[in-house]
Order: sequence, then structure tokens, then C-alpha cells
Amino acid sequence: MSEREYRTVKASQTVLKELMVPSYANFGGKVHGGFILSLMDKIAYTCAASHVKGYCVTASVDSVDFLNPVEVGDLLTLSASVNYVGNSSLEIGIKVVSEDFRLGIVKHTNTSYFTMVAMDEDTRKPVPVPGLILEDEQEIKRFIEGKIRKSLKTGHRAEMKKIRKGLDMIKEINALEGENCRLYKL
Ligand SMILES: CC(C)(COP(=O)(O)OP(=O)(O)OC[C@H]1O[C@@H](n2cnc3c(N)ncnc32)[C@H](O)[C@@H]1OP(=O)(O)O)[C@@H](O)C(=O)NCCC(=O)NCCS
Repeated sequence: MSEREYRTVKASQTVLKELMVPSYANFGGKVHGGFILSLMDKIAYTCAASHVKGYCVTASVDSVDFLNPVEVGDLLTLSASVNYVGNSSLEIGIKVVSEDFRLGIVKHTNTSYFTMVAMDEDTRKPVPVPGLILEDEQEIKRFIEGKIRKSLKTGHRAEMKKIRKGLDMIKEINALEGENCRLYKL
């Protein structure tokens, strides 16, 4: 891309609806969390690739907290938007709600943030992504929050790397007393 293009948030906003059929259930009769995660990955890819108009990979997924179980028979609606773009990465915000038609109950299942990276399919290297045109206050707020999340995540990764490098195993093993584990004799 010689001169950076800019695209609106609305142009790549994506909605995915799926009926929760019995084959998606776990032994407890609720829908598998992993199945919902795979739908989230699918919509994250669709939304990112629509903005980029090219190939993307999932680089990371923010913590996913399931706030409510999803029942067989519910209609699941996933809504995705590009919140933030960096140079080659995009943060996709995903909201999942489930709807029980019979009881008329709509529940917020979870909200999560996926970081996708645009890639050149031949070189397998990250490539620049189009910028975002922010058209209202909510889009500006989401962009700013995405920028903050990216900076926090980068700081957290660097901090964890430093901790791992300097880990004092004897001290840490002694500090395991009271934790829910048993140590084999080393
Ligand atoms: C994600 C990946 C492309 C990053 O490659 P890299 O060589 O580290 O690339 P860079 O350091 O140049 O970073 C490129 C961008 O990715 C972002 N990034 C890299 N690792 C990241 C991570 N773990 N979480 C979030 N963002 C990340 C960087 O912040 C950067 O963003 P920016 O260009 O907007 O500033 C690479 O690790 C990869 O290919 N991972 C496998 C992805 C995959 O196959 N996913 C599907 C799993 S089945």
C-alpha cells in the first residue's frame, strides 16, 4: 500500500447469528464454551479481513469471561467491529448475546477483544492495514480504549518476560506452601 487508505468502522461491521442445536451441547446440556470461541474467531476474522480486504491471522485473544450459560435452542448473535488499528494489527471488539425465544429472555454472554494481524500471504510477514475513519463519539472512545489495551498488553508481555528470566525457583517453591498442589520430591 503506497499511500495509506482509511475506511469507516461501519464498512466492516459484522453480525453472525447461529441457532444453538443439540450437537453443540456438552455433557451438562449447555453449549460448549469452545464452540462459542470458534464462532468468535470466525467473526473476528471476517470483520478484520473485510477492513483489510486481505488475509489476517489471530495474534491474541483477551480474557473471555462467560457471564451466562448458553442453552440449546437459544439464538446466539455475535456482533463485531474494528475498534482500533495499529500499523499491521487490528483490535476487533466482539459482543455475544443469546436469546431464548420462548421466554423472551436476552442475555449478554460475553464481550471480548481479538487482536488480528494483516499478513502478506506469500512472505508471511505483517503488512500495514488501512486506517480507521471515526465517525462518532463511541467509535472514538473504542479506538482510545483499544490503544490503551494494546499498550497495557505490550507492557504486561515485557514484564512477564522479565519475571520469567529472573525467576528464583527455590524462593518460588518455598512460597508454594498453602497452594493447592503437591510437590514430587525434586
Ligand atoms: C502474530 C504474528 C504475525 C506477529 O508476528 P511478529 O513477527 O511478532 O510481528 P511484529 O513484531 O512485527 O508485530 C506485528 C504486529 O502484531 C502485534 N502483535 C505481535 N504479537 C502480538 C500478540 N501476541 N498479541 C497482540 N498483538 C501482537 C504487534 O503489536 C504489531 O502490531 P502493530 O504493527 O499494529 O504495531 C506472529 O506471531 C504469528 O504469525 N503468529 C501466529 C498467528 C497464527 O497462526 N494464528 C492462528 C493460530 S491457529
